[in-house]
Amino acid sequence: IEIKKVEFRGAFVDLDKLPQGEYPEIALVGRSNVGKSSLINKVVNRRNLAKSSSNPGKTRTINFYMINDSWYFVDLPGYGFAQVSKEERLKWKKMIEGYLSQRRQLKGVIQLLDIRHVPTENDVLMKDWLMYHEIPILMVATKADKISRGKREKHIRQIREKLELDANHILIPFSAETGEGVKEVLAAIEEIL
Ligand code: GTP
Ligand code: MG
Repeated sequence: IEIKKVEFRGAFVDLDKLPQGEYPEIALVGRSNVGKSSLINKVVNRRNLAKSSSNPGKTRTINFYMINDSWYFVDLPGYGFAQVSKEERLKWKKMIEGYLSQRRQLKGVIQLLDIRHVPTENDVLMKDWLMYHEIPILMVATKADKISRGKREKHIRQIREKLELDANHILIPFSAETGEGVKEVLAAIEEIL
């Protein structure tokens, strides 16, 4: 895919107010601060389109970005962020699970893992939940610029083991700093669409 046009189409909290129409959607999931919003910006090559922050809990709504007048990138709040109230966390969980389980237009999900860390229980739960709902998952290991090349294989292997990925399930190393993985992510999105 060549990205020619990108437009913000709104931030939502109510599932029944999401954009109508039949455009396919690709959503981003992962822990708060893992780099979901940064991945969108890098992949579409717009520096500040999706707001990112070094403080976790930046994205608090379901954000729609129309790409090439033909499909949506959907940015979601992260999970596993302890600094918000229990009430707020429950609200996000309902919103995210409601969106992922009910949204007819959703064609696939990009699940982000931090390449430096072994996936958390929440990461494993998310993967299992997506599999159960038969939602295609593209696995991406973010912040690849933060570890040395020499350590990469070991980290990738740890992620694969913890998530019990099949040998044929791809895991794309990605960096929003260097742009590594952008081409691969775009090719995988094209497959899903
Ligand atoms: P929430 O909206 O809170 O769920 O977080 P998010 O997953 O959208 O993360 P976000 O894109 O806001 O990035 C969090 C922090 O990580 C920011 O300070 C980013 O600059 C940084 N970051 C994201 N991706 C990368 C990357 O590939 N490499 C490096 N070095 N930093 C990154
Ligand atoms: Mg975000």
